[in-house]
Amino acid sequence: MSKLWGGRFAKKTDSLVHQFNASIGFDVRLVDEDITGSIAWAQGLVGAGVLMAAEAETIIAGLERVRAEFADGSFTLAADDEDVHTAVERRLTEIVGAVGGKLHTGRSRNDQVATDFRLWVMQACDEMQAWLGDLQGALIASAEANLHLPMPGYTHLQHAQPITWGHWALSHFWPLARDRKRFMQAQAGASVLPLGAAALAGTAFPVDRAFLAEALGFTAVSPNSLDAVSDRDFAADFLYAAAMTGLHLSRLSEQLILFSSREFGFVRLDDGYSTGSSLMPQKKNPDTLELTRGKSGRLIGNLMGLLATLKGLPSTYDKDLQEDKEPLFDAFDTLGLALPVMAGLIRTLHLRPERMAAQLEPSLLATDLADYLVKKGMPFRQAHGAIGQVVQLAEEKGVDLTAVSLTELQEISKLFGEDVTAVFDMTNALANRAAVGGTAPSPLKTQLQKAKNQLGKQENIGALR
Ligand code: ARG
Repeated sequence: MSKLWGGRFAKKTDSLVHQFNASIGFDVRLVDEDITGSIAWAQGLVGAGVLMAAEAETIIAGLERVRAEFADGSFTLAADDEDVHTAVERRLTEIVGAVGGKLHTGRSRNDQVATDFRLWVMQACDEMQAWLGDLQGALIASAEANLHLPMPGYTHLQHAQPITWGHWALSHFWPLARDRKRFMQAQAGASVLPLGAAALAGTAFPVDRAFLAEALGFTAVSPNSLDAVSDRDFAADFLYAAAMTGLHLSRLSEQLILFSSREFGFVRLDDGYSTGSSLMPQKKNPDTLELTRGKSGRLIGNLMGLLATLKGLPSTYDKDLQEDKEPLFDAFDTLGLALPVMAGLIRTLHLRPERMAAQLEPSLLATDLADYLVKKGMPFRQAHGAIGQVVQLAEEKGVDLTAVSLTELQEISKLFGEDVTAVFDMTNALANRAAVGGTAPSPLKTQLQKAKNQLGKQENIGALR
């Protein structure tokens, strides 16, 4: 019988059922983790008195050979290789003979796959940290290069108040910092060892699970074997972090798509990061950004799909759980391209300060005008109404706020004086937003430094790991 579980079956599996049941097409990505887990298990079996040291040595050497065959591409799949665990054990036994059949003592694919998958997620979280950190670095560089460059700020996509490019660029740095925290939490959640839970009830051999955890780099041992084989919270945590990252990339993309349009023209995408039209020769399309925005949909879908798979399951393993891996692999691959592409796009982005300056019109300073009256003693609500009248008057006359004369202003409020002209100065307006987190030069410098420190700290944590 070539199937791991063929003993009690009188008939061959229907070929479509075999195909339907098989996960080798995707879980082969876990081969390294599977072999690493098996090596620790073989050592654990020695400690439990199940394997002689020499037998374990043979098995471990055999496993390393299987690993090498996978790495150099010489591994050939057999028709009955249902999943990565089956394939590795089958090949191991071909290499080392009957002793290979001792490896699965006291273990099940249920605790095995959970172990492999957790190891994979722990590693994947490290890579996410690196990709996110690289994009954060690109945003910091962009912010620093044009920290105080004035541009219009928007709410509801309407001119609101002046801000600076540096402030804007850093507004996309912090969401990524939160994403990194989420991946760190997902990694910590994954770091609980299921191996030793066996099929569901716990292994019947006295394997030292603390030793296994230590050998495989887990920080804890699962406290309940039934939960251990079915807990996929860590996978959902990973997908949530990925969905949030996708959402943040999508928001950044959306804004840059607008900024690169002819109507805004605040930025020009580098030729290497945009594409053309097969019909219209003049087109330079932000396909990269649109794809990034689009891919956030599949990242959200991956999370929703897994949650729906999990919600009906009792504790312990059910085959539904085989559906857990592909959404994470897909999320990982998707972000593994989207993040580096976005970092490159930001690093090569051309800014057009003259286009930003052209949009810095006086209505952006209406709040400052209200604040002027407040400083002269008028309650803000009343000042808001007064400036509303000024805006209305300017609109009726078809002129900018600055073109309303002092006499006209004084008809609206006696508090207006000669000094009102000082309000119409973008530099002053920026400098006024001086509270922590504001767009003024001094808090911006502090913010930039804080971002740099945080990035540096996270890189150090990464290096220690
Ligand atoms: N390929 C399976 C999975 O990914 C491995 C565990 C199979 N366990 C079982 N009892 N059929 O979940």
